[in-house]
Amino acid sequence: MATEFTQRVFSGIQPSGGLTLGNYLGAIKRFVDMQGSDFETIYCMVDLHAITVWQDPADLRKNTRELCAGFIASGIDPEQSVLFNQSQVPEHTQLGWIFNTVARMGWLNRMTQFKDKAGKNRENSSVGLFAYPALMAADILVYHATHVPVGEDQKQHVELTRDIAAKFNHDYGVDFFPITEPVIEGAATRVMSLRDGSKKMSKSDASDMSRINMTDDADAIAQKIRKARTDPDALPSEVEGLKDRAEARNLVNIYAALEDCSVEQVLADVGGKQFSEFKPMLAELAVDKLSPISTEMARLMTQPDEIDKILARGAERARELASPILKKTYEIVGMVGS
Ligand code: TRP
Repeated sequence: MATEFTQRVFSGIQPSGGLTLGNYLGAIKRFVDMQGSDFETIYCMVDLHAITVWQDPADLRKNTRELCAGFIASGIDPEQSVLFNQSQVPEHTQLGWIFNTVARMGWLNRMTQFKDKAGKNRENSSVGLFAYPALMAADILVYHATHVPVGEDQKQHVELTRDIAAKFNHDYGVDFFPITEPVIEGAATRVMSLRDGSKKMSKSDASDMSRINMTDDADAIAQKIRKARTDPDALPSEVEGLKDRAEARNLVNIYAALEDCSVEQVLADVGGKQFSEFKPMLAELAVDKLSPISTEMARLMTQPDEIDKILARGAERARELASPILKKTYEIVGMVGS
């Protein structure tokens, strides 16, 4: 009989830059929604993943704390969820090493994120960047997490996690690791660049006008939305009318996600309006929803010691969950002393 696993959600975000509206709508807001459901929720700032490409230490420290502040300001309750940074729970790297021995070169060679990030510079990219997905599998499986909310771009890594779990279970003749389900974001939560509707909104885009940062003030938000690229047509009343209009679709999606309603509902209201009318509506909504979060983030950032305490407590709770699973893994593998 197959083992029953506790319903457990794990997800991670890299503290490799400031937080954007894309991180908020595509990840954090969804994490908040899963909190308090039937799942235990574990959320992690994956600092060890961030350093697979160069991070300035002072920036990494600041971005980790800012990400933590962003989680809390958005509604993640550190009592209800386990909230911590990856490096403080050594079980991730310990299980990551075991998984380096389970994952095959051929599997990792197929990872599109590695190909994208390494680009033409493969020979000069870090070994960590290549092995990244095995550590990600360890992040998930060291808690026996059953569900992982991620963006479409991470689906391949979650599939690799399933392959690693299955191979481990098979090779050692156990039913120990769960086969984790990816929970993929809907189209409405995939936030695209404000300058190019075919590219994901990214903290690493050269143009700051392409993204809304969670630390932007009301003026900056309004200006970025006003300048967002669009087409000259009026908004359609039906979803089909957004076909081949990536920029229009993106702004409508953002509106729907911020308002917590469907794209259909938004279009029923704004169909027929010009962007000159819709953009100020969107700017007002965005400022309305985001400024309480950015204000709270700024407040938390004035108390880094408090943030560090929350992270330390989260890491302690995480270790309580992870350490028996790692111990059992070592035992299965045949490590004397475990
Ligand atoms: N690879 C993810 C990203 O870049 C971050 C991540 C690391 C993650 N470990 C994870 C996401 C575990 C989900 C589960 O977005």
